[in-house]
Amino acid sequence: MNVLVIGSGGREHALVWKLAQSAEVKKVFAAPGNGGTAGEAKCTNIAVDGDISEEKTQTGLLEFAKQEHIDLTIIGPEAPLAEGIVDRFRAEGLAVVGPDKNAARLETSKAFSKSFMERYGVRTARGKIFRGHDAALRFVQGYFKGTGFSFKDEAEPPPEKKPSSLVIKADGLAAGKGVIIAASLAEAEGALASFMRDKTLGEAGTTVVLEECIEGTEISVLAALSASPGKKPCILPFVSARDHKRRFDGAKGPNTGGMGAIAPVPDFSEIAQKDFRTAVLEPTLKGISAEGMEYRGFIFFGLMIRKNRCYLLEYNVRLGDPETQAVLPLLDSDFAELCKAMLDHSLDNFPLVWKEGAVCAPVAVAAGYPGAYDKGDPITIDRPALQETGAKLFFAGAAATAGTGAAVSGPLITSGGRVLSASAWGVNAVEARERAYRALKAVSFADMDYRTDIGRE
Ligand code: AMP
Ligand code: GLY
Repeated sequence: MNVLVIGSGGREHALVWKLAQSAEVKKVFAAPGNGGTAGEAKCTNIAVDGDISEEKTQTGLLEFAKQEHIDLTIIGPEAPLAEGIVDRFRAEGLAVVGPDKNAARLETSKAFSKSFMERYGVRTARGKIFRGHDAALRFVQGYFKGTGFSFKDEAEPPPEKKPSSLVIKADGLAAGKGVIIAASLAEAEGALASFMRDKTLGEAGTTVVLEECIEGTEISVLAALSASPGKKPCILPFVSARDHKRRFDGAKGPNTGGMGAIAPVPDFSEIAQKDFRTAVLEPTLKGISAEGMEYRGFIFFGLMIRKNRCYLLEYNVRLGDPETQAVLPLLDSDFAELCKAMLDHSLDNFPLVWKEGAVCAPVAVAAGYPGAYDKGDPITIDRPALQETGAKLFFAGAAATAGTGAAVSGPLITSGGRVLSASAWGVNAVEARERAYRALKAVSFADMDYRTDIGRE
């Protein structure tokens, strides 16, 4: 079969790589892909005119899929899902992995997902939705002064100590800039003014969710989901993963798109895993089914674990980046088959098999990232040294020096802040980490930098 992967990051490179391993897959097209996907077996990059979240661009992709007899399309990032790319492809009878626009609201609207969690009893931080600045401000003032509003009267018993910080979430997609953890009234007021009054995030910030801050450890669970109205829904969770979002060692510095990931997470205890099933996964599935959602695609549970209890912080309606780069190398099952099973509602019979061992995938970035950084620097790779580690490089901000689309050629240069991840398997987490960091030593580009504590933090 011929497969189309939409997106251009490290996650999409990992998807292309995994799909190419399937005996059933003849060709993979990456739209637009990157310098890494261009070099992958069976893969051809497709030049994309415009932004993949725009209708015009999506129509172009749809025409391409029809012309090339694409049997399966996988959407990597959330933005095109938010704009209904799945609805467009399905309306033309094409097989596409992802939620429709309505179901994508689980990620694209924090107010929708919060009320969904509450409606179906998915355990989450206690929160309230505000659509106007003044009411939100009154709540925040009451919360910090301890005189007025609090979350205490909500269903769950209060924690022993009232958390002092308040989490402020813009309702809409905000490219990682929509969540502020405010430790003081002044910070909270500032966030509300910026989101709701000054509209620094546009419409995305005009509604906010305010919620209590849960202190614990974060875990990402990615899963395959198959739900359509009238069909028995099914969800298959993958091995757990952890992203390391802060820029510098010791989880210091600004938030980033992810500085590295590991899988599985060693501290995700049996008790917590069971709790995840009963407190998060099962009520989610019940809710998706009760709402009659059309969702045959990947789902991502962003969890906070406190004392073996799982709290759902967010849904993403896609695979995580960089979690996918750590999870897919552990998957022993055929990925194209998995996608087909999601689409034809046979997921409950699908044999999802995982390799033993662990993967560590630190990300190499251009030093200035997430601030300003240079682009266009040559990337050199000591192939024998890399091969000796067994690691796989998944590229993100990397482009070929010449040509576009199917005609790309030449050595790779940097084209973004997060340039690549080195995903290494090991019999255990220690070996995986040692190999991954040895692999990064085989790579160089100007101002290359990375965190040295992925999997150790
Ligand atoms: P979200 O987009 O909702 O996952 O939020 C982004 C990040 O903010 C999460 O990955 C957490 O690190 C943090 N966060 C979100 N909600 C909470 C919460 N209720 N308590 C503590 N941290 C949170
Ligand atoms: N790694 C977090 C995300 O993909 O949203």
